[in-house]
Amino acid sequence: MSKRRIGILTSGGDCPGLNATIRGVAKACYNLIGEDKIDIIGISDGFHGLIHNECREMNPSDFSGILTQGGTILGTRRTPYKMMQVVEDDKIDKVAEMKQTYKSRKLDCLLTLGGNGTHKTANLLSEEGLNVIGLPKTIDNDIWGTSVTFGFNTAVDIATEVVDRIHTTANSHSRVMVIEIMGNKAGWLTLYSGVAGGADIILIPEVPYDIEKVAAAVDSRAKAGKGFSIVAVAEGAMDSSEAKMKKKDRSRIRSENGYVTATSRIARDIEQLTGFETRTVVPGHMLRGGSPSAVDRVLATKFGARAARLILDEKYGYTVAKIGTEIGENLLSDVTMKTKFVPLDDDVVIAARDIGISFGD
Ligand code: F6P
Repeated sequence: MSKRRIGILTSGGDCPGLNATIRGVAKACYNLIGEDKIDIIGISDGFHGLIHNECREMNPSDFSGILTQGGTILGTRRTPYKMMQVVEDDKIDKVAEMKQTYKSRKLDCLLTLGGNGTHKTANLLSEEGLNVIGLPKTIDNDIWGTSVTFGFNTAVDIATEVVDRIHTTANSHSRVMVIEIMGNKAGWLTLYSGVAGGADIILIPEVPYDIEKVAAAVDSRAKAGKGFSIVAVAEGAMDSSEAKMKKKDRSRIRSENGYVTATSRIARDIEQLTGFETRTVVPGHMLRGGSPSAVDRVLATKFGARAARLILDEKYGYTVAKIGTEIGENLLSDVTMKTKFVPLDDDVVIAARDIGISFGD
């Protein structure tokens, strides 16, 4: 049998654990299928590299020493799904070019490591007849059908450290500290790091807030002798009137008022309503930087090894997932066009409410 040729790319925003997953796939492929029976082709900068045929043959040594490395050895880029079937000024038919690269590089399958956007394009290519396997990456933890994505645990650790460290300075100055945490449209990262870091108020997109209730929570802490408060705000948080708007109207109104996320507005309103001096903190891309946590390294290895098993079994059109306590897979077509939001009855939400954390609702 001729050698199997596996293309691999990382797409969308990076996160810790991409290299650990690439390594997991490669090592398991070499081990299960045989080093002499497999070629791994690294595709640069996500789908951009597939469109422009920017690829390189990888060697087993390329996958050594990368378990702990942040970022991605392949490079990544955002190539939005909604533009994939649109021919732009460069006149490039992106889907046709991706299929051509797959063919000219003689690939037997393509592994795509990415988030929701990546999964949409992966499914598109699968429907176009390519053998595709997805791997769920994102600090946002918002991919449908998997209880967890790699990168999430590390980002929770980093955001927790931020929330932790803010406590002492908030206390010294008797301030309200409003911390904006990434997560796109979902509140997972804010919820978990808010609870782990001991935030007093957690505002997530799934629970639209009322600023009067947020201020009341700060006041009630003050009455109980707590001279500071920590508010963890998801970047996608919105108040109850914004929640009734279409996304484009909400964005337009925010942009007319000179802001993108609600964080600065929340801080200003808290200061006005409570009289507490208030500051904002935005850790931003720090949440995606550096080495993956031990938990993410294990998850990445398990996900990578599962992808290798799918290659071995020639089972394509799937994305690896954690389903309950087991590693399994879902059909790409089942997970795309969906977002995994925090359910209102999530056990962490319930526990947070039980210990008195306010969600501003
Ligand atoms: O999807 C990961 C993520 O970090 C989101 O939490 C955030 O909204 C977005 O990417 C930021 O994207 P960029 O790196 O393009 O600024």
